Amino acid sequence: MRYRDIPGTGLSISEIGFGCWTMGGPNWSTSTGAPIGWSDVNDDDILAGVKAGIDGGVNHWDNADIYGNGRAERTLAECFRKLGVNRDTQVIATKVGHFRGTAIHAYEPRHIRNQCEQSLRNLRTDRIDIYYFHHGSYVAAGYDARGNIVPDHDYLPEAARTMHDLVKEGKVRAVGQSAYTVEDFERAIPVLKPRILQNKANLRYDEYIRPGGRLESLMRAHDCALVAFGPLDQGILLDKFDPDRPPSFDEGDYRRGRKDFNPDTLRTVRQKLSLVRERFAGGSSDVTAMLSSIASRWVLAHERVASAIPGFRNQRQALCNLRAAEDPPMTEPEVTWLRELFQG
Ligand SMILES: NC(=O)c1ccc[n+]([C@@H]2O[C@H](COP(=O)([O-])OP(=O)(O)OC[C@H]3O[C@@H](n4cnc5c(N)ncnc54)[C@H](OP(=O)(O)O)[C@@H]3O)[C@@H](O)[C@H]2O)c1
Repeated sequence: MRYRDIPGTGLSISEIGFGCWTMGGPNWSTSTGAPIGWSDVNDDDILAGVKAGIDGGVNHWDNADIYGNGRAERTLAECFRKLGVNRDTQVIATKVGHFRGTAIHAYEPRHIRNQCEQSLRNLRTDRIDIYYFHHGSYVAAGYDARGNIVPDHDYLPEAARTMHDLVKEGKVRAVGQSAYTVEDFERAIPVLKPRILQNKANLRYDEYIRPGGRLESLMRAHDCALVAFGPLDQGILLDKFDPDRPPSFDEGDYRRGRKDFNPDTLRTVRQKLSLVRERFAGGSSDVTAMLSSIASRWVLAHERVASAIPGFRNQRQALCNLRAAEDPPMTEPEVTWLRELFQG
């Protein structure tokens, strides 16, 4: 395993971090009713996957209050307890922002504090190593100074203050911002001053790590590192879905609502992956591990990416996704060839 420093935090995280979303099992958005979890998750399988990660040098675990509404945080803590993992050797990240509870908005300072305490309790720890605001939608319904409801309250300044108070109190070590648009990052970064950003980056969605892109210059200007979620695109980049028999997902599985699992998209990706297999096969007997390694190492080739965080549901997937930590870093010609194949 190789490790990368996050500027200004004293944290050094494994290039392959493990996403904990699957650990939460199935759940549904309390706002829209849409599935936002993962079906059929087995705690023993997850434990075996966490053990494989620890044995393979993973020290970076990406969690959130919304993953199973706390279940993923509790499961991670329980796995560490069962495996006898020294918490101080691990970098635990979690997030606040999508679980609103009974608050009018998840970024109300009292709600942030409430969720922080709950996450500490769920994770059985006294500090969160990386605490992210989970999204960048800071302007929404809220209260004005007189207690009247207004449609466009800006939570960013007060949320940022609350986050930095939590740092001063020792409950949070490093501040992170996860978001889904460059505009949201541009607005939040100068106020929140996070050291770590998180968003989706993979061979199919490279907007945030495209050379010369807006986020790249923002990260340089503010000396931020990036944690890339979705490196495997929820299995699509592993060529595991048959375009002629596209998958159907169970109740509570987030992928039920994702349009990318359709025959045309899967067929297009499969054609590209067949070229990847031709170029990189080199005698590898485990094609899934090879594709997982290529997908993660391609994202890690960007100088600002500190960690790629694939998810997993069992030991087999965890071991497979660790292959990127054993293989050598990708060469520049390989990076360019893959970019041209997927983005050209
Ligand atoms: N900040 C944010 O808003 C945000 C958003 C999304 C994700 N994240 C973070 O990023 C992590 C990764 O998320 P993601 O969206 O990429 O989804 P993911 O967690 O990577 O997707 C997990 C699914 O991918 C499949 N998979 C993973 N490794 C596999 C392997 N080696 N072989 C076969 N299948 C494999 C499994 O599918 P099957 O169920 O079919 O076995 C598994 O359930 C999350 O856990 C979370 O920590 C953050």
